[in-house]
Amino acid sequence: MNTREMFAKAIKGGYAIPAFNFNNMEQLQAIIKAAAETKSPVILQVSKGARNYANQTLLRYMAQGAVEYAKELGWEHPQICLHLDHGDSFELCKSCVDFGFSSVMIDASSLPYEENIALTKKVVDYAHQYDVTVEAELGVLAGVEDEVSSAVSHYTKPEEVVDFATRTGCDSLAISIGTSHGAYKFTPEQCTRDPKTGKLVPPPLAFDVLDAIMEQLPGFPIVLHGSSSVPQEYVDMINQYGGKLPDAVGIPEEQLRKASESAVCKINIDSDSRLAFTAAVRKVFAEKPGEFDPRKYCGPARDLMEELYKHKIINVLGSSGKAE
Ligand code: 13P
Repeated sequence: MNTREMFAKAIKGGYAIPAFNFNNMEQLQAIIKAAAETKSPVILQVSKGARNYANQTLLRYMAQGAVEYAKELGWEHPQICLHLDHGDSFELCKSCVDFGFSSVMIDASSLPYEENIALTKKVVDYAHQYDVTVEAELGVLAGVEDEVSSAVSHYTKPEEVVDFATRTGCDSLAISIGTSHGAYKFTPEQCTRDPKTGKLVPPPLAFDVLDAIMEQLPGFPIVLHGSSSVPQEYVDMINQYGGKLPDAVGIPEEQLRKASESAVCKINIDSDSRLAFTAAVRKVFAEKPGEFDPRKYCGPARDLMEELYKHKIINVLGSSGKAE
C-alpha cells in the first residue's frame, strides 16, 4: 500500500510509522516478524545503495514475498509499503514506480530551492498517475548514507514549507531538525559528557523548528530521517568483541517518542539494525571461532534485529496494534 492512509491515521493517532531499510533476507525477515507480531504498519525502504548491493529485481520480489510471509505469520491484513529511500533522479524514481513500488522519495534537497521544486514536481506528476506517494526533502541533514552525504546540516526553513508543499504536490516532507545519518551523528565537540558514565550526551533536536513547520502546514505528514539511537549496548558489544566504534552517538529515544506524537509520522531507522547485526555476528565469531555456517551467525543477528525492531515499534514509535 502507499503511505497516504498510513500517515493520516498516524497523525490522528499520535504515533509514527517505522521505516526500516533492508538489504538482505535476514533484515527483511526480522522486520516482517516484528511488524506481524506487533501488528504495526511498516515501511520497507530500499536505498539506491541497496539496489546496487542486492539487485533491484530481487529486492522487489522479496518485498512481495514478505507480504505473503506476513500472512503466513498470522497477520491477516498486512499494511506494508515498499518505498524508495533517497531517490536522487527522476529516472530512478520512475523506474521504481514502474517496478511496483508503492512510494518513492525524491531527495533534491542538495539542489537550489527552485530546482528542488521543479524535480520534485516532475516526480510527483509521474508517480501520482499510478497512485504512488512521494516524499520530498527540504533542508539538509549532515552525515553519510550510501551515496548521499553532507558535512553540515541546514535546518529546514519554516517560511518555505507552504510554498514548497503547494507547488510540488508532495505527499510528505522530510525535514532537517538536527538528526543525521549514520552511527556518528554528532562530533564529541557538539556533545556534553555525562560526568558519571563518561558517555556523550547529544544536543537536543530543534523542536522549535518542528513546531514552526507544523504551524505553517497543519496536519501535513512530516518525516524524520537519520533517527537511529545508536544503542549503547550494541556499541559496547561490538567494541567488546573486537570492533572499534569510538564515540558513536545517536538520537535519544525519548526525543523520537516525543516527535512521534506530533505530525512526524514516518521515522527512518537503518544504522541501529546494522549495529545489531554486527554486534551479534561479532559475538558468535569471538565465542565460536570454529563456526563457519552462515546460518549460525546470521540467525542470532536476525534475532537481535527483530528484538530491536519490536522495541522501536512498541516503545519508541507507538505503532503497535495500529494495523490489526
Ligand atoms: P540512520 O542512519 O539514523 O539509521 O538513518 C537512516 C535513514 O534516515 C534512512 O533514510
